[in-house]
Amino acid sequence: MSWKGVVDQYRSRMDTLPEGCPAVTLLEGNTPLIEAPRLARELGLNARIYLKYEGLNPTGSFKDRGMTVAMTAAAADGAKAVICASTGNTSAAAAAYASRAGMKAFVVVPDGNIALGKLSQAVLHGATVLAVDGSFDDAFRLVTAIAEKAPVTVVNSINPHRLQGQKTAAFEVCDVLERAPDYHFLPVGNAGNITAYWMGYREYQRDGIVDSLPKMMGFQAAGAAPIVNGAPVANPETVASAIRIGNPVSWKKAEAARDESGGVIEAVTDAEILAAYKLLGSMEGVFCEPASAASVAGLRKLVESGRIEDNSLVVCTLTGHGLKDPDNAIKVCPEPVRVPAEVEGALKIMGL
Ligand code: F0G
Repeated sequence: MSWKGVVDQYRSRMDTLPEGCPAVTLLEGNTPLIEAPRLARELGLNARIYLKYEGLNPTGSFKDRGMTVAMTAAAADGAKAVICASTGNTSAAAAAYASRAGMKAFVVVPDGNIALGKLSQAVLHGATVLAVDGSFDDAFRLVTAIAEKAPVTVVNSINPHRLQGQKTAAFEVCDVLERAPDYHFLPVGNAGNITAYWMGYREYQRDGIVDSLPKMMGFQAAGAAPIVNGAPVANPETVASAIRIGNPVSWKKAEAARDESGGVIEAVTDAEILAAYKLLGSMEGVFCEPASAASVAGLRKLVESGRIEDNSLVVCTLTGHGLKDPDNAIKVCPEPVRVPAEVEGALKIMGL
């Protein structure tokens, strides 16, 4: 049977959607859960590691899962325009799904701080891009203020439909593994995704589909780690622009997911993020964006301090595709080697 997209695939679990409304979909979801044995060996972990590769959603990030539900609800409600603040991926998804629904999209981004791939998606899909001189947090404040005055539907994760869609990634993990993992590692920015996964896992356990729950392991970038520090960060800074957020909307819910699951929310440095980013690409053939690699950087850190039990089942979500932000790959990897266009000269330089 062909995949129907998140809304129709899990329609009976879409708690917030009005009954029977037609889905606004790009057939998102059903992303691969890739086993990573070379990574496990490299980390010295006697456990099974799986990568939930969300970069293979239609717009290249997990945001499509929430956006299909938010846009389906907005369309059912007769909305004409949507708005969101974004570090890039939400704006790409909002723009794409709005164009599909025949709606206008306004996206508010921190000027100069979103990856080019994401900006190109927003403009190509016809969104009006508003760049603010400030952080994501400033952009988000502007969005909520605008929505109080004008007929635009906010599609950030304060919109409850978003988390309903994002929880389906936890369903897919369990559907494939036929159980819940022991640990689930995620990057944390605005903190919606860790909240949504926890919602999904608990729902499957409540309904007897799985009989255990994972520990939720969230990782913020060290320069943008308000939950770890216990206070908002006024000027968040990190190479992982997707999670450059100083005051997450789902802060309390993420803490609840951490505490109820017996997990952690900790920080990883930019150097640790970039090392994991390169490792995933060079050892497992999986290209994710830097923010996504915070999950694997976190796993590595916990393995090194002996905090992951042997023989566990570990899932790391890779939230966005590496091609969103190729500049970063070019920056951290060796330049192409120049060779003459003849065999002998080329072989010499190749060392063969
Ligand atoms: N990874 C990527 C690639 C993201 O784009 C985001 C968030 C996260 C992780 C963090 O997820 O916010 O649910 O904790 N991006 C948002 C955006 C903020 O605007 O695209 P979260």
